[in-house]
Amino acid sequence: MNWLNDSISLFTLIGIGAVIVITVFVVGKYVRQMKTDSSTGELAKEKWDGIGEYKNELPIGWALSFFGTIIYALWYFLAGYPLAAYSQIGEYNQEVNAHSDRFESKWSNADEATLQDMGKGIYFVQCASCHGVVGDGMDGKAQNLTFWGSEEYIVKTIEIGAKGSGYPLGEMPAGLLDPQSAKAVAAYLVEKIAKTGKSKNPTLVSEGEALWATCAGCHSEDGTGMFGMSANLSNYGKSEFIVEVLNRGKKGMIGNMPAFNDGRLTDIQKLAVGKYVTTLVE
Ligand code: HEC
Ligand code: HEC
Repeated sequence: MNWLNDSISLFTLIGIGAVIVITVFVVGKYVRQMKTDSSTGELAKEKWDGIGEYKNELPIGWALSFFGTIIYALWYFLAGYPLAAYSQIGEYNQEVNAHSDRFESKWSNADEATLQDMGKGIYFVQCASCHGVVGDGMDGKAQNLTFWGSEEYIVKTIEIGAKGSGYPLGEMPAGLLDPQSAKAVAAYLVEKIAKTGKSKNPTLVSEGEALWATCAGCHSEDGTGMFGMSANLSNYGKSEFIVEVLNRGKKGMIGNMPAFNDGRLTDIQKLAVGKYVTTLVE
């Protein structure tokens, strides 16, 4: 921010300069008068310990600047910073928002490759410190992103349950299905709910469909999560799911994943880092 563009700061600075000049001038004048005793004016009748006093008028310049400062103080208080709801933090936030808006419109039509590239940069700055440069979660310190989002990780989720994203339905209990059924549901989830591609166990898809009722009670028939009551599995493993994770954060079993909903990342940056993370899954 260039303070010279800020009329209030500039006005205040000019005021300070003027006060210094006037003070030096007036003090200098009276000091000189004291030395030469060339002062004029009518002496007061009284003397104090033999010292007389002139009945000088207030210097007009001094009086004007005295009243000027009072007027300025009133103006400053009523129309300047405090009551006009101006604050430097507010101005800073406005500038950041304006920049984010420019950023959002510049990249609103970015293609897949551009987003992934952008996401890679964001990942290294914002995520790698916990999830590791290659996404392996650094020996269990954070989620292993080469595993999370995969078909096998769905099986694992059914085994251990899920919690910590603050959905109204709360926690997903562990061990809802035996391992073989979990595998079948995972196959169905990948192919028919999330539609992220071909399942590794295509023969289990129809068995999984029959078992899906176990999940539909909380995640709804089409997996969309009953209007935000629980996780939207139609996005499972996709960048949209990761955007949701970033907006919510997760106090899970491994540890705490902070939410990124404080403006640190714009919507496009969240989507971009989500796209990059989906490329980490093995
Ligand atoms: C009692 C309700 C309930 C049932 C039943 C349920 N879930 Fe969940 N599930 C949840 C909730 C709530 C979450 C979000 C947990 C969180 O992150 O806070 C969740 C999250 C998930 C996730 C995302 C985990 C992650 O890492 O973010 C997957 C995958 C999942 N469920 C799969 C299933 C499958 C498959 C079934 C059926 C076998 C199932 N769920 C049954 C409530 C349920
Ligand atoms: C301060 C450490 C930390 C940072 C920074 C961090 N994460 Fe996490 N993240 C975690 C932890 C811990 C978990 C595991 C939470 C749990 O116990 O399930 C996690 C889990 C996840 C998950 C799985 C969520 C789920 O539903 O199971 C995803 C996806 C993820 N992080 C993506 C990211 C992305 C993308 C970034 C960067 C924008 C990021 N994380 C930054 C610590 C972090």
